[in-house]
Amino acid sequence: MTKKTDIDQLKQDNAQYLFHPMAHPAAMQKNRPDIISRGEGCWVWDIDGHKMIDGVAGLWSSNLGHSNKRVRDAIVAQLDELPFYNTFRGTTHPRAIELSARIVKTMAPDGVGAVLFGNGGSDAVEGALKIARQYWKVQGQPERTKFISLRQGYHGVHFGGMSVNGLGNIRRAYEPLMPGCFHVDTPWPYHNAYSEDPEELARICAGLLEREIQFQGADTVAAFIAEPIQGSAGVIVPPTSYWPLVREVCDRNNVLLIADEVVTGFGRSGAMFGTRLWGVKADIWCLAKGISSGYVPLGATALGKKVSEAFLADANGLATVAHGYTYSGHPVAAAAALATLDEIEEKDVVGNAARVGAHFQQRLAEFERRFSFVGDVRGKGLMAGIEMVSDKARRVPVPRNSDIPQRVAREAYRRGAMVRISGPNMILSPPLVMTREEVDHLVDILEASFAAVQATL
Ligand SMILES: Cc1ncc(COP(=O)(O)O)c(C=O)c1O
Repeated sequence: MTKKTDIDQLKQDNAQYLFHPMAHPAAMQKNRPDIISRGEGCWVWDIDGHKMIDGVAGLWSSNLGHSNKRVRDAIVAQLDELPFYNTFRGTTHPRAIELSARIVKTMAPDGVGAVLFGNGGSDAVEGALKIARQYWKVQGQPERTKFISLRQGYHGVHFGGMSVNGLGNIRRAYEPLMPGCFHVDTPWPYHNAYSEDPEELARICAGLLEREIQFQGADTVAAFIAEPIQGSAGVIVPPTSYWPLVREVCDRNNVLLIADEVVTGFGRSGAMFGTRLWGVKADIWCLAKGISSGYVPLGATALGKKVSEAFLADANGLATVAHGYTYSGHPVAAAAALATLDEIEEKDVVGNAARVGAHFQQRLAEFERRFSFVGDVRGKGLMAGIEMVSDKARRVPVPRNSDIPQRVAREAYRRGAMVRISGPNMILSPPLVMTREEVDHLVDILEASFAAVQATL
């Protein structure tokens, strides 16, 4: 337990010395972030000892909760055996090999043939974009270099990922970004200019992708990248037919399909992978977060056989992977991931996410009817977004400077639930091992928090 004086010092030092992702440093002085100091199961405690149910699983990542003994023991055992060795040409180590084989086995139904490792989601995306370009060079089509992606998409913060991401507010400060990246409209049922009919919307948006590919010249496009469900934008679930139609568009135009499964991978949506939810096989997958249940940073880029076999077959010296990190396949991260995969399989974590997730979605859906400032509740499995609006009939989100979303979040915090706000959205992504009773506890707190704010409007 941290002493009171130390707590004050920590808060002061945080405001002074620590620059936080996606935050203005000066704002961190005024609105000090919550210091979370302990976790157990689906619960966390802040440094003042306040206990909360974790509605965000760290950040879409602690899918097994915060005190999984098997993952913890695997990490400790690996630290005793070999804390680190590299996997650059010439050396490797057992855990990286075992994890690569395990991912390929787990993703055999998806057609995965090989994997490369990084340290998180942004690395996984960077690996995917680079391998996609290199694939076309290996295939003798070096002019296929462009990327197309979705508006509202989030693909991490490296220059490649940032260039394909479709959230304007995180691009501006770092422009100019990578040339050759183009965006098309997201099939967003709640906000779109095209159709109220989801399947018609899917057809229109898949058509927009095909038109953009053809406008660019299909022989100049390397890949289309998208999230199976857009997480950071506020959990935008596409219509059921969108991904199958996208697969057809990519096939017709010989464009690679990259699925950014950093959030949706390993069960978040109630399916093991988001692409499986849509019955689609991608060519390349970006994996992170749930792969190691967030216990140790890890990312992976999984390559479909079309890609991996082309690299293996290259006889022209073009397929050398001139990419990778000191910590690619870090043994401690790989050990954590192997234990995580054991847990996911043996404890039917994905089944739990589907079952408990259905109840979660059902209960949250009532908020739309109950609260005048809730415009849209959307989600799948254990991921959900609640969009707050200033005009429900016209679907106008609360303005960026509105304090309403933060007020709801503070009410929830006070009542004992950790949630996350992004723009007008509350984003929920609890651990995938959460029980129905814990979900009810979380939703009860949210209900009371929305009601408390509604009473002041
Ligand atoms: C879909 C998606 N891709 C990539 C990333 C980047 O992952 P990281 O923050 O681990 O670099 C994220 C992070 O939330 C994400 O949601």
